[in-house]
Amino acid sequence: MSIKARRVLDEIVPYIPGKPIEEVARELGMDPNSIDKLASNENPLGPSPRAVNALKKALEEVNFYPDDSNYNLKKKLADIFGISESQLIIGNGSVELLLMLGLAYIEPGDEVVASDQSFIMYRIVTKMLGGTIIEPPLKNYKIDLDALASAITPKTKLVFISNPNNPTATAIFKDEADEFMHRIPEDVIVVWDEAYYEYTPGKSLPDGLDYLHDGKNVVVLRTMSKAYGLAGLRIGYAFSKEEIIRNMMKVRLPFNVNRLAQIAAVAALDDQEHVEKSRMMVEDGKRYLYRELDKLGLFYTQSYTNFIFVDTPFNGREIYEALLHDGVIVRPLGVYNFPNAIRVTVGLPEQNKRFIASLRKFIEGKRGKGEYNASQTVEHAIGKGVSP
Ligand SMILES: Cc1ncc(COP(=O)(O)O)c(C=O)c1O
Repeated sequence: MSIKARRVLDEIVPYIPGKPIEEVARELGMDPNSIDKLASNENPLGPSPRAVNALKKALEEVNFYPDDSNYNLKKKLADIFGISESQLIIGNGSVELLLMLGLAYIEPGDEVVASDQSFIMYRIVTKMLGGTIIEPPLKNYKIDLDALASAITPKTKLVFISNPNNPTATAIFKDEADEFMHRIPEDVIVVWDEAYYEYTPGKSLPDGLDYLHDGKNVVVLRTMSKAYGLAGLRIGYAFSKEEIIRNMMKVRLPFNVNRLAQIAAVAALDDQEHVEKSRMMVEDGKRYLYRELDKLGLFYTQSYTNFIFVDTPFNGREIYEALLHDGVIVRPLGVYNFPNAIRVTVGLPEQNKRFIASLRKFIEGKRGKGEYNASQTVEHAIGKGVSP
């Protein structure tokens, strides 16, 4: 006899991660070394060598539980960002921090506002906890702050903003964000999810920390999974007011951040050269990919992240399958209600070339069957009100 789970689970479509290399290798009988994963916005340069050295030393101590207070890491982050340790919490990836925030603040019946085509975990966490998610649409692939502010009601507890936005790679700029923050009632927490923060210095994006310094009810989420290359260790952090951090600490499981992750994070934060190198690689890669996508006549948004969002006249799932057979894993975006789009992580130069070659092959196949001419893409994008 099956036992009925909580009713709210009926409403949840589980998160689908980027397909792992090992799974593709198994399913298609390929050599894992011949596969390029460009599906989860990881850092293809790998972790900082400093982090790797620190990890090697720490491996023999995994018989000990981690430091539950995350003392060294909190101290380092507090020094770097000029805040107090009591305004910080560390998570098993920033997704765990999203859950903690939900557990601390969302009661059944509460409303949460987030864009409809934004990071899917906002919706999942809200529904898990019996909250109601209100999801205004994007405008020209960008988060519509006006629509978010207008969606706030007396029942609203949280507003989630992925800036830049996953999966569309677009950004909200500082002046827009400042104006938005002025409109937010004092009893609403605005979550600035800045997972791609390290990729946007000098690009006029808001820094959520400034709003914390202004005394606003904000939570700023950052991760070590992207530019710092530590996705496999699972570690992220949040800044907020002491009171909000205290509430999140109450719903935190003991030892939520493992020993290796804490040690690697401290070492990685000390290696800003590696972050800079990663940033440069992404900037060069984007220039190359934009040029090649232009040649293919495909539409993409200007990316403020380490991935590119490409909206095409084809089915995204079909592109994904075709590229998979060439050993290139990208992300189809049907679950984000972009049936024709794919998301591709900017890789190493040879990986970017391989992606383009495989995509070109797919498009030439379509052309051969008379299923495509280049002007279609442009019309497709203009139809959505965006100039390519
Ligand atoms: C906007 C956004 N937030 C959070 C995350 C999750 O990151 P983490 O690996 O720290 O859980 C991602 C990862 O893709 C993301 O794109």
